[in-house]
Amino acid sequence: MESTDASFFSSPGSIVVALVTFVFLIHRAWPYLVQQKQSIELDQSIAPTDKYSDLTVSKEPEIPEGWWTDRDIFELERRALFSQKWIYLAHITQFSKPGAYQSFDIAGYPVFLIRGKDEKIRAFHNVCRHRAYTITRKETGASTVLGCRYHGWSYDTTGRLVKAPQFDEVPGFDKSQNSLFEVHTHTTDQGLVFVNLNAGNPVAFDSSTASTLKDFARTGALSGRSAWVTGQTLSGNFNWKMSIKACRLESFTKHLERGMSEISGGSAIMKVVKNMTRKGSQKVTSVFPTTLLYSFSSMDFGLALSFFPASEMKTHIRYDLFSRSVVGQTEVQKLSDVLQKATEDLARETEKEYSTVSKEQGSVASQSRSLRQSSLICLFSSFPFEFNNPCAREILSRLQQHTKLERSQGGQILPAMRKPEGSNLFQQAEKLCKELDCVSNGSHNGTSSSALDW
Ligand code: FES
Repeated sequence: MESTDASFFSSPGSIVVALVTFVFLIHRAWPYLVQQKQSIELDQSIAPTDKYSDLTVSKEPEIPEGWWTDRDIFELERRALFSQKWIYLAHITQFSKPGAYQSFDIAGYPVFLIRGKDEKIRAFHNVCRHRAYTITRKETGASTVLGCRYHGWSYDTTGRLVKAPQFDEVPGFDKSQNSLFEVHTHTTDQGLVFVNLNAGNPVAFDSSTASTLKDFARTGALSGRSAWVTGQTLSGNFNWKMSIKACRLESFTKHLERGMSEISGGSAIMKVVKNMTRKGSQKVTSVFPTTLLYSFSSMDFGLALSFFPASEMKTHIRYDLFSRSVVGQTEVQKLSDVLQKATEDLARETEKEYSTVSKEQGSVASQSRSLRQSSLICLFSSFPFEFNNPCAREILSRLQQHTKLERSQGGQILPAMRKPEGSNLFQQAEKLCKELDCVSNGSHNGTSSSALDW
């Protein structure tokens, strides 16, 4: 064998053939070698660094791919975040008399706040205990008896079922077991009303939020003397997490400035808005996860700007203006006009930005796995607010923790889920009636199936 190999390489023709073969093989293998090199570089670039140490960006991507657009991510946010965190909803002075209520949609959970005859503010799931019809159909209103329009069940301001026509004689039916599902509430010293959808035992109010609000109150914009002046809810077609972008305040201020230039007359109001928009006059505080609080130096005004997700691609934006002093009706109207315009402009601007971001992520999703990783990193470098921003890091961390918990328990954990109590006999009969009702009538208007998907 040795003599055969030696004689093969001693021939010039054979050497030429060997060289040509070698060049050909290198040529064929070159793209593969380049890809390997890039892959190694990519692995090095995504290895945990100080900056991203707790994000664990690895080959097993823990950064959710559908961060901006995915329905599953939104569902996970509902379970991991919105079912467990204290969420700011309103100011206590918005409920001026017993029966005054306001309806909200928090990530698909319909909820309303109502002032009781005992002056207490309570929150309930806005879902009738009979067949899940919506109880308060208006955004705001006042009534000490809340009647469901579908079959006439009525509840008082404590959520107790007081009337259930034709059910009094039904075997196994117990009114006391069919009160509205109450939601935990907390009213801060500054008069801000928060809710917590967790169906378990009362959860302590966040100490970090309490101290943030205390600090914020020192700016003078929001104190125990402040009262709600005006507010409104608008909608935009974007993912709610777009709201945590650091430049959101700048954008909003810019839109306020523009609004100011469009209002006519009213020197007092001009002064107010001018002060709001003066460079460096605003201080902003984040009340995780939905709300930004603004204070305007040397002014009596404070502003809350909240972003409540409605779906993975739709967000309700709500602004609430507070003041320590009395504001005249004309001024209130003008301020409302300016704030409405600024919020609308903010929504349209965010929609445009979202369209770009979601397209990028859409194209990322359609690529191969290795390229997808690379593009995600580019995406996060292009939008560094994402994971340099403490709110974004907190969201991601909560999603990761909840996912781990669900994996360990082998199924979804739904902290906001309520289980009806009472007679099995009645519940079985109701289930059958419900099914028959659906077959004969189809779905009835106003009842969202998702309302029951706790
Ligand atoms: S009374 Fe409310 S759904 Fe029937």
